[in-house]
Amino acid sequence: MRIQAIRGVKDIMPDEIEKWRWVENKANQVFTRYGFKEIRLPIFEKTKLFSRGIGETTDIVEKEMYTFEDRGGEKVTLRPEGTASVVRAFIEHKMYTKQTVQKYYYLGPMFRYERPQAGRFRQFYQIGVEAMGSHNPSIDAEVMIMLMEFFTVLGLNQIELQINSLGCNKCRPEYRETLKKSITNHLADLCENCNKRYQKNPLRVLDCKVERDIEIASGLPKITDHICNECKCHFEKVQTLLHETQIPYNINPSLVRGLDYYTHTAFEVTSRDLGAQNAISGGGRYNTLVEEFEGPPTPCFGFALGLERLISLVPFDKLESIETNPDVFVVSLGEEAKLKVFSLVHQLRSGGISVERDYNEGSIKSQMRKANRSASSFALIIGENEIKSGTYQLKNMKDGKQSNITAESCVEEIKALIN
Ligand code: HAM
Repeated sequence: MRIQAIRGVKDIMPDEIEKWRWVENKANQVFTRYGFKEIRLPIFEKTKLFSRGIGETTDIVEKEMYTFEDRGGEKVTLRPEGTASVVRAFIEHKMYTKQTVQKYYYLGPMFRYERPQAGRFRQFYQIGVEAMGSHNPSIDAEVMIMLMEFFTVLGLNQIELQINSLGCNKCRPEYRETLKKSITNHLADLCENCNKRYQKNPLRVLDCKVERDIEIASGLPKITDHICNECKCHFEKVQTLLHETQIPYNINPSLVRGLDYYTHTAFEVTSRDLGAQNAISGGGRYNTLVEEFEGPPTPCFGFALGLERLISLVPFDKLESIETNPDVFVVSLGEEAKLKVFSLVHQLRSGGISVERDYNEGSIKSQMRKANRSASSFALIIGENEIKSGTYQLKNMKDGKQSNITAESCVEEIKALIN
């Protein structure tokens, strides 16, 4: 019986990995410049962390979590996102005792039992960022600016930054009631899902994707007209800072996000080049989550981006070469050369040179063909004569020029040539 991968789960094969690594390295470079440090977190956690953190009535918690009992009877869940884990680790390691804003980034697989379709998987990868410990609207703006800069470095265009304010625990409950009252008049026309959402999570009605509901939602009271002065002031400051750095954005009053922990600023970056699943990234401020997990009051701001969606948008053909071809392809002939070549390959690699060879040990012609195909910079040719004379032949694969290179200085000379 042939066993295949689970639906909604994908292999990332070596020819694609180069793109992934390149994007991951760029993220590391950009985020490090802004003072973010990598954090690695477990892939599974106690179920309670996510159900309480993300919100009991969210789609993720109600329908999408991979939850099971382990052999000790503990209820555990494969992480559907990273923020709740960062908050747990922040409290567990008492990172709040540090005086400075803690800035973390993470990368890894997330798991959601969603209906698989283009751009939507059951195991997908995120890069996430969390800045913990400041109310300052500069953090909101800076983190969004960093994300947009990262997208620019990757050569992305046709993307849009949408922002909104979701208010705070003081003003949102009142808005929620106003919204609920207003929705009551439209219940018969709204989809079944929205009729359910209306009871438990009426804000989600605002971002329903059903066409008729979008039309109804556009006539419902807007949250930005109902937030308190403090929230308004925060939101205005964020916008001023975005203006100041000339980052284009749109205010989208229907943007509510699918996770319950947000307060104040919420945002998404979407792309017109993606299909129905057009969000590359989303995030916002969450000022109460650390306290909800019994940590000290710690205002936070963060985002996560979906790597599959992002990588599908990067114009790799227009960017600097990201290929990692070997520096040298070693071509060898004859019994006597075998042992010598084996240890030479080892020496070259230890010296920091990437080396490929023909393990089938075919004819010179077939080995040269493989060297060509590997797109190596050089071919190092070693036969019995070369072993005897202690001089190898080095062929530059770009211009075809051949030169002699002595066995003793081989590693150093090749190193000088490739650097
Ligand atoms: P999220 O909006 O649920 O936010 O996910 C962030 C991004 O992950 C999405 O914009 C999308 O690109 C990608 N994504 C989500 N679900 C899937 C899927 N099934 N298949 C492929 N890609 C997907 C969060 O996860 C929050 N933790 C973000 C955050 C961090 N907020 C504050 N800090």
